[in-house]
Amino acid sequence: MACSPCFYMSIHFLFLYLSCQPIDAHILSRSMKPLCLEDEMSALLQFKERYEIANVSGGPLAHPKTLSWKNSQDCCSWDGIECDENTGHVIVLDLGSSFLYGSIDNNSTIFQLAHPEKLNLGDNHFNYSQIPSRVGDLSRLTHLNLSASFFPGQVPSEIFKLTRLVYLNLCCSLDDRLLLEMKAPGLRRLSQNLTDLEELLLGHVNMSSQVPNTLANLSSLRRLNMDDLTGRLPNFKSSSPLKELQLRGTSFYGELPASIGNLRSLEMLDLYSCNLTGSLPMSIGNLPLLSYLDIVHNNFSGSIPASFANLSNLKYLDVGMNPFAAQSASSLSWVWKMKKLATLNLWRINLYGEIPPSIGNLSQLVELSFFGNQLSGTIPSQLMNLTQLTDLELPTNQLSCSIPSWLVNMTQLVVLDLSRNKFHGQIPSSIYRLQNLLTTFSSSNNWRCSYYHLTGYHAARVAQMLFFLNLGP
Ligand SMILES: *[C@@H]1O[C@H](CO)[C@@H](O)[C@H](O)[C@H]1NC(C)=O
Ligand SMILES: *[C@@H]1O[C@H](CO)[C@@H](O)[C@H](O)[C@H]1NC(C)=O
Ligand SMILES: *[C@@H]1O[C@H](CO)[C@@H](O)[C@H](O)[C@H]1NC(C)=O
Ligand SMILES: *[C@@H]1O[C@H](CO)[C@@H](O)[C@H](O)[C@H]1NC(C)=O
Ligand SMILES: *[C@@H]1O[C@H](CO)[C@@H](O)[C@H](O)[C@H]1NC(C)=O
Ligand SMILES: *[C@@H]1O[C@H](CO)[C@@H](O)[C@H](O)[C@H]1NC(C)=O
Ligand SMILES: *[C@@H]1O[C@H](CO)[C@@H](O)[C@H](O)[C@H]1NC(C)=O
Ligand SMILES: *[C@@H]1O[C@H](CO)[C@@H](O)[C@H](O)[C@H]1NC(C)=O
Ligand SMILES: *[C@@H]1O[C@H](CO)[C@@H](O)[C@H](O)[C@H]1NC(C)=O
Ligand SMILES: *[C@@H]1O[C@H](CO)[C@@H](O)[C@H](O)[C@H]1NC(C)=O
Ligand SMILES: *[C@@H]1O[C@H](CO)[C@@H](O)[C@H](O)[C@H]1NC(C)=O
Ligand SMILES: *[C@@H]1O[C@H](CO)[C@@H](O)[C@H](O)[C@H]1NC(C)=O
Repeated sequence: MACSPCFYMSIHFLFLYLSCQPIDAHILSRSMKPLCLEDEMSALLQFKERYEIANVSGGPLAHPKTLSWKNSQDCCSWDGIECDENTGHVIVLDLGSSFLYGSIDNNSTIFQLAHPEKLNLGDNHFNYSQIPSRVGDLSRLTHLNLSASFFPGQVPSEIFKLTRLVYLNLCCSLDDRLLLEMKAPGLRRLSQNLTDLEELLLGHVNMSSQVPNTLANLSSLRRLNMDDLTGRLPNFKSSSPLKELQLRGTSFYGELPASIGNLRSLEMLDLYSCNLTGSLPMSIGNLPLLSYLDIVHNNFSGSIPASFANLSNLKYLDVGMNPFAAQSASSLSWVWKMKKLATLNLWRINLYGEIPPSIGNLSQLVELSFFGNQLSGTIPSQLMNLTQLTDLELPTNQLSCSIPSWLVNMTQLVVLDLSRNKFHGQIPSSIYRLQNLLTTFSSSNNWRCSYYHLTGYHAARVAQMLFFLNLGP
């Protein structure tokens, strides 16, 4: 008997239907992500509804995450959401850089989620509403990121209840205004309670308070970023895992304590424009991993300790604008051995004498500045070896002789500043070869020029440079 194809097909479908159903349920309960809980999904959707999507985020990965949130789907699979594998509770809410625009308050449905461990609202625009104090109810939080989100006013003290925090970012307003405030005893309470913090980012938070000695209680800190603090720096405990100490623009005064040398893990020390005085401690030389050191614009005196010679991992060294005792450039012999340096800024630190030929050792240099010293003599030809150099700034010194002709071979230069020196003679006519040069400052020297034999492109290029040079043929 011939079987009809139709009969076969329906048997086949029936078979699939019967055998697949129990397998589906099995997969769902065991290996697939759990479905999110209905009340949490509804809380998230209400949160979404409250915000306009507007052009308020600038981060590199910025995109409107909530746009893809749909009622019909499992919220655990939504962009920015992660759920606990066993319970289905939302544990990660990463809405950083999501173009959210609108205010937030204590009634936000976000606080109906009892289980978040990570909350990131950074790089959105909460329209100058205050940080709701109910954020302190999210007691499981380990990560809280409210960076650059237009929150003004006092940081609610309820945040100090979040004793599990390891990451707290309240840093940075986009326009450098201090919108957020954390007045005394905020920082004291914070450092008494949030002792597990590994990263504390409070740059641009108006604290204008004394630094509490309890700050040293934060023994797990790896990264500290603050400004607008005052007081003396605390003593740093040994065994601290601190890697980044960024105190840019704070009003810390007094000396940099010798205990800075205890921070053996330190890779970045940024004390730009603080109010520190006295000598630099020798112990800075004990920081073997230091790669970034910026102490610009303080009141450090004495001489730069020779122990700096041990900082063999330095890539960035900027010690400018400090009233160090006058010393010859060649006496900084350790500097000229730092083979990894990419940035070397020795501006306004009372250097005299000639630029030492050993500068040719620093083959990784990209930026070099001796601005505002009393250097004399000529530009050493070993500078030719610095083939990565894009910025060469030598203004306001006593450098003399003619501009070396090899300078025109440093075609990678973008910034060349030779102004306010005692150069004389002819500017090499082949200077037009410096195709990348964007800025040249060479005024107030004693140049003689004779370019009149140049024609066409070269003449135009030289005329353009003479314009920069402020000379005019
Ligand atoms: C978004 O804003 C930035 C400045 O805030 C602006 O430069 C950019 O053009 C804007 N983009 C759109 C699509 O409006
Ligand atoms: C932002 O705040 C201003 C002033 O309070 C208000 O007029 C505007 O409607 C708010 N915008 C949003 C999206 O909440
Ligand atoms: C929060 O909700 C309560 C009642 O639901 C209401 O009375 C109160 O005004 C709301 N507060 C804000 C800031 O919206
Ligand atoms: C916190 O938010 C800021 C601003 O969006 C972002 O740059 C930073 O990477 C975020 N940090 C973390 C740990 O997600
Ligand atoms: C939120 O509620 C608390 C009391 O629960 C109140 O002190 C606070 O002012 C409210 N508003 C904000 C923006 O936190
Ligand atoms: C510190 O944390 C505890 C809970 O561990 C809390 O009871 C206390 O209020 C917090 N202190 C401050 C100043 O918030
Ligand atoms: C910081 O806050 C104080 C008031 O507590 C204010 O006088 C000061 O101007 C603020 N600083 C800045 C830079 O906004
Ligand atoms: C925190 O620091 C204070 C003062 O330095 C100290 O008395 C206290 O014991 C410290 N607490 C902890 C938990 O380390
Ligand atoms: C710097 O510190 C001195 C005390 O050593 C203080 O008198 C001065 O006001 C401070 N300057 C700033 C800008 O904080
Ligand atoms: C800078 O330090 C010297 C002592 O080395 C001190 O006399 C002077 O007052 C300090 N200047 C400032 C502005 O703190
Ligand atoms: C410049 O580079 C050449 C070749 O790399 C090397 O032989 C010479 O020693 C270098 N000169 C200096 C002063 O470093
Ligand atoms: C510049 O480089 C060229 C080869 O690229 C070389 O012939 C010339 O001698 C160099 N000029 C100077 C002044 O070193």
